[in-house]
Amino acid sequence: MNNKFRRIGILTSGGDAPGMNAAVRAAAREALAHGVEVYAIYEGYKGLIYNNMKLISNPTELSGIITRSGTVLYSDRCVEFKEKEYQQKALEVCKENKIDGIIAIGGDGTFRGATDLSRLGMPTIGIPGTIDNDITSTDYTIGFDTAMNTVISMVDRLRDTCESHARCDVVEVMGRWAGHIAIRTGIATGASAIAVAEIPFDEEKAINDIIAQKKNGKRSFIVIVSEGLPGYAETLAKTIQERTGVETKFARLAHVQRGGSPTLLDRLTASEMGVYAVEKLFEGKSDIVVCKVDNEICDFPIGKALMVDKMFKKKLSDEEIAALSPEDRAWAEARCQKVLDGMKRLYYVADEIK
Ligand code: ADP
Ligand code: F6P
Repeated sequence: MNNKFRRIGILTSGGDAPGMNAAVRAAAREALAHGVEVYAIYEGYKGLIYNNMKLISNPTELSGIITRSGTVLYSDRCVEFKEKEYQQKALEVCKENKIDGIIAIGGDGTFRGATDLSRLGMPTIGIPGTIDNDITSTDYTIGFDTAMNTVISMVDRLRDTCESHARCDVVEVMGRWAGHIAIRTGIATGASAIAVAEIPFDEEKAINDIIAQKKNGKRSFIVIVSEGLPGYAETLAKTIQERTGVETKFARLAHVQRGGSPTLLDRLTASEMGVYAVEKLFEGKSDIVVCKVDNEICDFPIGKALMVDKMFKKKLSDEEIAALSPEDRAWAEARCQKVLDGMKRLYYVADEIK
């Protein structure tokens, strides 16, 4: 391993996610194991701008955090960091503190910041930490599994009371624009219908299915709606009540989905990704995001990862598509297709067994 690194910084940014602490611990301990000092940078990019950081010289300082959710480094949605002036200030703070590499854990916004830092000459590597699983270049983002387990335990409780009272609950789950949490938890809670932004929702069919299930003697109904369809869950709850005669409640699970002790999958993935990120940094890599594809940890340039995200959200313009190399375009189209096919297959499974 290249030993040009003397001191690295680690930060968590954007929405917190269970398992971020495990990633911090893994990255920090991997660096310390190679004789490299670690700065814990507080409140994401804000800590870099305002020099809010603390040197960790002993791995024991990270003891006990693998079981804890939230982030011990705290997080922030630091708008100033989007501006060149503040990025330059952050770079100066890095130089003052003799930081020669950064590990940034967060979502796509965090990676935009990481790419800016890399371009300014500060080697930076991203680790995907978000409950949403909405980073298209990776099959998995840290926090996704814990959030889904929280959803299913909450919805199971709603099911209990719906069954007693012969009710329906329309539950809005997080994911920002993405329906990954909704589809998987819909299957796992036996939902009668699932509505997400990526796949057209047949409201008429959902209502007729509930009416048919009621005729068959079913007493409780769960419908899962992604927050990627803003406001729709509440409207749908009213429509279901009017059209089926089943008393229907609306529930927004909200930020409870971001808490809770991380599951094995999140602790494990975070640990693997944290060590890998530091290995790559020490190998001299920068401006990459750690990913997991087909169960293998790998990495992609951040620009490529952001591009495929944009393509998946259909926000890539024709000019931007035309400017891609044939290889990048083929890779991105195949990746988007794979993610969408995976969602459609799960959606189909949910419908078959509801
Ligand atoms: P996430 O990382 O979960 O997507 P945000 O979108 O809030 O969350 O982004 C996290 C942080 O990353 C922001 O608060 C900001 O500091 C930084 N960031 C976001 N977008 C950019 C950008 N375009 N350029 C530089 N930094 C950015
Ligand atoms: O990205 C994680 C996430 O929890 C999304 O699912 C949600 O849309 C958003 O963050 C909520 O953001 P905030 O914590 O700023 O309310």
